[in-house]
Amino acid sequence: MKTQYYTASSLDGFIATEDHSLEWLFPLVELEATSYPSFVAEVGALAMGSSTYEWLLKHVIKLGTLDETFWPYSQPAWIFSSRALVAPAGADIRFVQGDVRPVHAQMRAIAGSKNIWIVGGGDLAGQFLDANLLDEVIVQIGSVTLGGGKPLFPRRVLSPILRLNSVQSYGEGMVELRYEVNTHNESRTA
Ligand SMILES: NC(=O)c1ccc[n+]([C@@H]2O[C@H](COP(=O)([O-])OP(=O)(O)OC[C@H]3O[C@@H](n4cnc5c(N)ncnc54)[C@H](OP(=O)(O)O)[C@@H]3O)[C@@H](O)[C@H]2O)c1
Repeated sequence: MKTQYYTASSLDGFIATEDHSLEWLFPLVELEATSYPSFVAEVGALAMGSSTYEWLLKHVIKLGTLDETFWPYSQPAWIFSSRALVAPAGADIRFVQGDVRPVHAQMRAIAGSKNIWIVGGGDLAGQFLDANLLDEVIVQIGSVTLGGGKPLFPRRVLSPILRLNSVQSYGEGMVELRYEVNTHNESRTA
C-alpha cells in the first residue's frame, strides 16, 4: 500500500527534453526487461500531470488519428490540470486540480491494498512529497545526459530523507535506484 514515484531519468536529472521528447529513453532498454511489468501489476491507481497525459494522448493513443488506439492503463487514473481536457473513450479517468491530499485519499480508497503510482512529472511527485504522502522513489537512470529539460524532482531533499534500498543495473544502458522516503523527517526543505 505504498505511494510510489516510478520514472526514468537522464543521468543529469531530466525525465523529458524541454519539448517533451522521450526519444532518448526508448533505445536504452526494453521495458519488458525491467521491473516495470512486476511494478505495474501492483498498481491500483495512478496520477499524472497534464503534460504527461497529453504526451500519452499524442504518442501512445494517437488520439484523433487513423492509428488511434486504447488508453494503456486498466487502473483508474487521476489527471491534474487547471484546464478542460478531453478523455479518450473507455478510459477510467478523473480530472482534478489543486491540493493533492483529497485526491490521494480518493486514490487510496480505490487502490485498496495496491500501490499508488505517481507517473510524473517531477513537480507533481514533489507535491505529494510536500504533503508527506510519498513513500518511495524508484528511478531508472539512463546512460545519457540531456543538458536540460523537464526535471526529475524539483525539490531540495536533504539527507537522511531518502534511504537507498536497492540498486539494479540493466546492462550498459540503465540502472534502477529505489529509495524509501522517510516522510516524517522534518529536515527536508522545499
Ligand atoms: N521519463 C519518464 O519515465 C517520464 C515519466 C513521466 C512523464 N514523463 C514526461 O515528462 C514530462 C513532464 O512534464 P511536466 O514537467 O510539465 O509535468 P506534468 O506533471 O506532466 O505536467 C505539469 C502540468 O500539470 C498541471 N498540474 C500539475 N499539478 C497540478 C495541480 N496540483 N493542479 C492542477 N494542475 C496541475 C499543470 O498544467 P495545467 O494546469 O496547465 O494543465 C502543470 O503545468 C512530460 O513530457 C512527460 O511525457 C517522462
